[in-house]
Amino acid sequence: MVIAALCLQACGGTRPHDPVEDVMLPDTVTFAEHIAPIVRTKCMPCHRPGQIGPFPLITCSDVRRKAKTVRFMTSHRYMPPWPADTAYTRFLGEQVLSARQIALIMKWVDTGAFPGDTAHLKPPPDHPDDPPLGKPDLVVWLPDTMHVPGDARDRFMIAKAPFEIPRDTFVRDIVFVPGNRALVHHMNGGLINYAPDAKTDVFSGHRYIDATVQKGVDAFTALRLANDDGTWPALTPSAVNYLPGMLPPMYPEGIGGYHFKRKGAILLNTLHFGPAPHDTIDRSRFLVYYAAGPPKRPLKELSMGSLGVAPVDPPLHLEPGQVGTFHSQYRLPTAISVLSVNPHMHLLGRKFLAYAVTESGDTIPLVRINDWDFRWQFVYTFPHIVVLPKGATIHMYGTFDNTAESPQQPFDPPREVIGTDSPFMRTTDEMLQFFITYIDHQEGDERISLAPGVSGVVSAPAAAASR
Ligand code: HEC
Repeated sequence: MVIAALCLQACGGTRPHDPVEDVMLPDTVTFAEHIAPIVRTKCMPCHRPGQIGPFPLITCSDVRRKAKTVRFMTSHRYMPPWPADTAYTRFLGEQVLSARQIALIMKWVDTGAFPGDTAHLKPPPDHPDDPPLGKPDLVVWLPDTMHVPGDARDRFMIAKAPFEIPRDTFVRDIVFVPGNRALVHHMNGGLINYAPDAKTDVFSGHRYIDATVQKGVDAFTALRLANDDGTWPALTPSAVNYLPGMLPPMYPEGIGGYHFKRKGAILLNTLHFGPAPHDTIDRSRFLVYYAAGPPKRPLKELSMGSLGVAPVDPPLHLEPGQVGTFHSQYRLPTAISVLSVNPHMHLLGRKFLAYAVTESGDTIPLVRINDWDFRWQFVYTFPHIVVLPKGATIHMYGTFDNTAESPQQPFDPPREVIGTDSPFMRTTDEMLQFFITYIDHQEGDERISLAPGVSGVVSAPAAAASR
């Protein structure tokens, strides 16, 4: 089914191809010399035992066995998955192949997939599954083991991981550790904090809802997230995200951090499982690392579009068979220093574009996605902070395809689709959202590097020591 969808896209020619013929290639391409270095850095993070990739890509015979599909998937840039257009903006941890690397793979496959001198090949790198930050101060488990039926369908769970700690505590980092790495495709988690005396029992109610089958269920009510008096508690969205093969962003010391109140929960909205071939289970957890004090420069989030500060205008609404582009814009009342961006659409999204225009008319590109794939929801972190000045207007555009040929069309025949303006959404409602994670602007922020291990301008020795 994946292949069928991919073929449609490929035959439709929606993806630009690189001019690979310009790239000078060696006469003989071998696995040992040319292909191993590519697969071990770009494929193996996901394609190894126990990880999300459906088969390992480590040894020469692994890759030879899949040579034709590897050639197809890489030459069309379906693999490695990296929806953002690198010709528009660059981000940390980009999983992309260069035109030369693609050309090497194609030539290797086309000329018989020679192993070359594999006897002298270095052993593949270790990819420890250990958490990158060491021993945590607190572990918040999902309370229940989730049962995932082996029906080979994607599943979307909404879940809560409640906690109760002795006192309010500052937190530096939260890291999600999937119990079943081969299955967990992505997770976006928000932090819920209950005010003192607002909530008696954080553990009551359902612990998870399978949004794929329990349609029309008001998940947030079923999870009993509300305060005892029915009002909603404070929610910090996108406090922790997970994507296979990606390190969680760890901002330089002094940037970011959270305040955990005594009672709270991490809201997983959503936890996406890839198709499971047999019945299986998952029990995931969060590792929480305490901070010495309050965040010096707390993270803030600007959310545009559905449910955000600036609505989608005209509202998101698609007739059956319609392809449409929708827009939202927001003028910044003060300058902000942007760390990362996260475009969000559902199944019918096809393209996404966001940029800012300053008052003097300069354009600051943010992110462009030419071929949206619902299954790869990345949070993109810039290599350096991007400053958006006061008065700049942020524009975002989302294109949706509600035709029968739309690659992830959930309905046959297509139905009328509305943009949801409620957090109690279904994946078959559409959304157009753009999240910007930022800190309040200070002079010189554009010089701060966000690369892990590289000290920003902010407190270099501490940043190095904490990793
Ligand atoms: C971020 C994780 C990740 C990385 C990195 C990655 N893959 Fe994949 N790959 C997957 C997943 C997950 C699938 C299963 C299909 C899906 O969910 O899109 C997959 C599927 C495939 C398939 C099978 C497609 C099919 O439907 O039969 C091939 C071939 C493939 N990958 C090759 C590669 C190659 C070659 C690289 C490196 C150049 C690579 N992948 C890098 C996660 C990854």
